[in-house]
Amino acid sequence: MNALLLAGGLGTRLRPLTENLPKPMALVANRPWLEHLIIHMKRQGMDRFVIAVKHYSELIRHYFGDGRKWGVHIEYAVEDTPRGTAGAIKNAEALLDDRFIVVNADIIHEIDLPKLVEFHLQHGGGVTIGLTEVEDPTQYGVVNQDMSGRILCFVEKPRLEEAPSRRINAGIYVMEKEVLRYIPDHREVSIERETFPLLIEQEVGIYGQVISGYWADMGTKDRYRKIHWDILNRHLRLGIPGRETGSGIWMGERCRIGKGVLFVPPVLIGDGVQIGDRSVIGPFAVIGDDCKIGSSVRCSETIMWNRCMVNDATQLKNCIFGYDLELGSKQILHEAVVNRTDVMQA
Ligand code: GDD
Ligand code: MG
Repeated sequence: MNALLLAGGLGTRLRPLTENLPKPMALVANRPWLEHLIIHMKRQGMDRFVIAVKHYSELIRHYFGDGRKWGVHIEYAVEDTPRGTAGAIKNAEALLDDRFIVVNADIIHEIDLPKLVEFHLQHGGGVTIGLTEVEDPTQYGVVNQDMSGRILCFVEKPRLEEAPSRRINAGIYVMEKEVLRYIPDHREVSIERETFPLLIEQEVGIYGQVISGYWADMGTKDRYRKIHWDILNRHLRLGIPGRETGSGIWMGERCRIGKGVLFVPPVLIGDGVQIGDRSVIGPFAVIGDDCKIGSSVRCSETIMWNRCMVNDATQLKNCIFGYDLELGSKQILHEAVVNRTDVMQA
């Protein structure tokens, strides 16, 4: 059984961060999310992956290559035109095993994969959808099930009054390859709007199981921020790079910290970071590798990707910065989300 990671969406709701990179390559706690995902799935026993890519596919290929560095094997299914969530699976058909896992690569989760696969084998149907429960289901695919877990209807992003439940598609599927014959070739097909309703109608056996543990879709800026604060608060136990030096302060290697710098936890500082005298960092700050922060800077509730430079006496609150940005001195920025126009690498 191998796993297909769907990583080819446009990521429009995370713009401008995703202006020039695929959404799953957005840094989460100083690592591309896709890297966390592969590490997590490897711990769950998966070591063969296919990544379905479209936009900026070369960035993903360049970063992961054949996966050897992570002790896994990675192949790529590249779409010439965007195929949608089912079309991307169809496009990868030749690389998939008879039974395989599909994961939306922009979801953050602690799923117990063996448990989902066990349920899939028990019911013997064509598809198992991992489900989770949320307060507001309107941004997700919503299901209705019978007592055995069989899915009776699947509605993508319904209005609240039309949502059949609060139980939603978590974006993780176990699939039998034979169901791919229901997906037309060479055109854009949405698994949520077209394929799942068709599979229900054709009675191929489509079941759902509620997964336990943390789950979030990082697709909007608010959710992207919240995921970071959940990681720093340890509500999500993701591997955080760096060593914890005091409760809630993670420090990378080769950092140069000036006199009188105050860290207000929780704070994550990457490798090779320099911070000038008397700066106050935190609470809730994630500083990427090789960032240079001047003196008397204040930085809270802010996420900064690698190699940013923040000049003296600037104040940042609730901001997100992409790679390689330079901010002037004595500026006050609240809720700024900033990126560069040129493509940058992790
Ligand atoms: N290769 C490829 N090609 N991947 C795609 C394409 C495509 O044309 N379109 C989307 N994807 C990938 C995205 O990169 C993302 O990882 C995943 O498929 C889901 O797309 P999103 O655009 O993030 O969808 P969503 O978040 O609005 O909704 C989906 O996820 C929810 C859970 O997070 C749906 O599957 C919902 O039903 C689900 O509840
Ligand atoms: Mg999404």
